[in-house]
Amino acid sequence: MSEKPVVVLTRRWPEAIEAKMAELFDLRINASDQPMSREQLAQALLDGDVVCPTVTDNIDAQLLSAPNVRTRLLANFGVGFNHIDVSAAKTQGMVVTNTPGVLTDATAEIAMTLLLTSARRTGEGERLVRAGGWDGWRPTHMLSTQVTGKTLGVIGMGRIGTALARQAHHGFGMSILYTARNPRPQSEEIELGAVRCEIDELLQRADFVSINCPATPETQNLINLAKLKRMQPHAHLINTARGDIVNEADLVTALSTGIIAGAGLDVFVDEPNVSQALMDLQQVVLLPHMGSGTRETREAMGNCALANIQAFFSHQSLPNRV
Ligand code: DGY
Repeated sequence: MSEKPVVVLTRRWPEAIEAKMAELFDLRINASDQPMSREQLAQALLDGDVVCPTVTDNIDAQLLSAPNVRTRLLANFGVGFNHIDVSAAKTQGMVVTNTPGVLTDATAEIAMTLLLTSARRTGEGERLVRAGGWDGWRPTHMLSTQVTGKTLGVIGMGRIGTALARQAHHGFGMSILYTARNPRPQSEEIELGAVRCEIDELLQRADFVSINCPATPETQNLINLAKLKRMQPHAHLINTARGDIVNEADLVTALSTGIIAGAGLDVFVDEPNVSQALMDLQQVVLLPHMGSGTRETREAMGNCALANIQAFFSHQSLPNRV
C-alpha cells in the first residue's frame, strides 16, 4: 500500500475535521497551537506534501524557495491569503487554495455587530455597568447614533460586503453605496438599494463605512488621513478585512480630533498587538479577529480546505484555487 501523503496543520483545527483528516493522511498537527516560528514553518515545508497555514503564518518567498521543499499544496485555512507570497509559491510549482464562501455570513455578522456597537455605544455602556458607574436612567445619558435608515458605504462589494449590505438594507432599512471593480448585477442593486460610486463620494456620503476589500499592495493604507478627512464627523469606520488597509496612526488622529465619530475593528496591523493609542480611545470597538469565529463556520472552513486537498490528490479541478 502506498504511503499516505503528509499534511501539516500549522494550528489546531476543529476536532471533527482533524479526525477526518487523520484517517486520510499522515497528519502532523502543531499541538501547541501557538503560531509556528519561522524555523518551524521552514520545517513544515520540508516535511509536508501539503501545508495548511492560517493568517498567523507569514509564508514568504525566502521560505518557499528554500532547497528541498517538499510541499506541493498550500491549503490555506481562511479566505484571505495576503500572508502567503502566492506568486513565489507558483514559481516553485506549488498550488495555493483558500476557503471562500463558507465564512461570508459569520464575517458579515461581526461587521454588523461592530457597526451597531460603535453607533449605539454598547461597548461603553457595558463597561460602565460592569465598573459600577451607572447612576440611573436620564434623558441625556449616553446618547448615541441611530442606525436605522442611514447610509452604509461598503468598500469592496464582494461576498462579505454584499452579505453585510443585505443585513443592513433588509434589517435596518439602510441605503447602500459601494465600490467594486465591477458593478453588481442590476437585480442585486435593486434588491439592496445599492449604488456603485467612487471611493471619495462613498466616504463623503456614508454614515457608516465598512471595509470589505482584500488586502493587496493597492489597498495597503487605503484609508489614510486624507481619506478619513473626507468622511463626515458623525461617521463610523468598520474594518473586518485586514488591518493594514487602514493607517492606524491616522485613524487614532481622526478619532481623537473628531474627524470621525467612531470605529469598530476586528483586524489590526500587528496582530495580536493592539496599539495603546487605540486602546486608550473609548470610541473604538476592538475585537480579536473573530469574524469567521463561529463553530459552524470554522468547521465549514476545515471541510472546505479538506475538499481542496482531496481534489488535489485525486487530480480533479480544485474548488478554491487562488
Ligand atoms: C480569513 O478567512 O481571511 C480570516 O480573516 C481568517 O484568516
